[in-house]
Amino acid sequence: MGETTAAIALANPGTDYIAVEVHGPGVGSLLKKIAELELKNLRVIRHDAVEVLEKMIPDGTLAGLHLFFPDPWPKKRHHKRRIVQPPFATLAARKLVPGGYLHAATDWPEYAEWMDETLLNEPLLEKAEQAKARPVTKFERRGIGLGHAVRDLLFLRRQE
Ligand SMILES: C[S@@+](CC[C@H](N)C(=O)[O-])C[C@H]1O[C@@H](n2cnc3c(N)ncnc32)[C@H](O)[C@@H]1O
Repeated sequence: MGETTAAIALANPGTDYIAVEVHGPGVGSLLKKIAELELKNLRVIRHDAVEVLEKMIPDGTLAGLHLFFPDPWPKKRHHKRRIVQPPFATLAARKLVPGGYLHAATDWPEYAEWMDETLLNEPLLEKAEQAKARPVTKFERRGIGLGHAVRDLLFLRRQE
C-alpha cells in the first residue's frame, strides 16, 4: 500500500524515486500519502514492473532497485511466476549504474535461496555482504506475525 515507499522517500528528500505497482488500491493509497506528505521526489507508475524496466528505463540509469517482498509463489508449479528469474536478473543489472544496488527482501526462505542463487549467477552483479537498512513493510509485518524469518539480499552492479 506504499507505506514503506512513502517513508523512504520522506527520509531521503535528495533522492528521486519511482514506485511501480499493478494493484489499483495500492497505487491509490500511495498517491494519497504523496499528497498528505507533500512528497516531491516520488512518482508512481501503475504497470507491470518488468515491462517498465524493459521499455521505460534506459540502461545504466538507476542508482538502486528495491524489491521488497515480491510474491513468493510457494507452490513448485508456480515458481515460474516469480519475478526473480535469470532474465530479470540481467534486466535489473543492466538498468543500474555501475556500483548501483539491487536490494531484495523476502520472508520465504526457499525464495531467498532462489533469489540468492539467481542473482549470484548473473555476471553483471556481485553480492554485497551487508544489507541496507529499510523500514518494515506491511507484508513483512504479517510474515513476522506468522513466525516467518526475513532475509535481505544486496547485490551491486559490477564496475565494468
Ligand atoms: C507480497 S506483496 C508485497 C507488497 C509490499 N512490498 C510489502 O512488502 O508490503 C507483492 C506486491 O507486488 C505487486 N506485483 C506483483 N507482480 C508485479 C509486477 N510484475 N509489477 C508490479 N507490481 C507487481 C503485487 O500487486 C503486490 O502488491
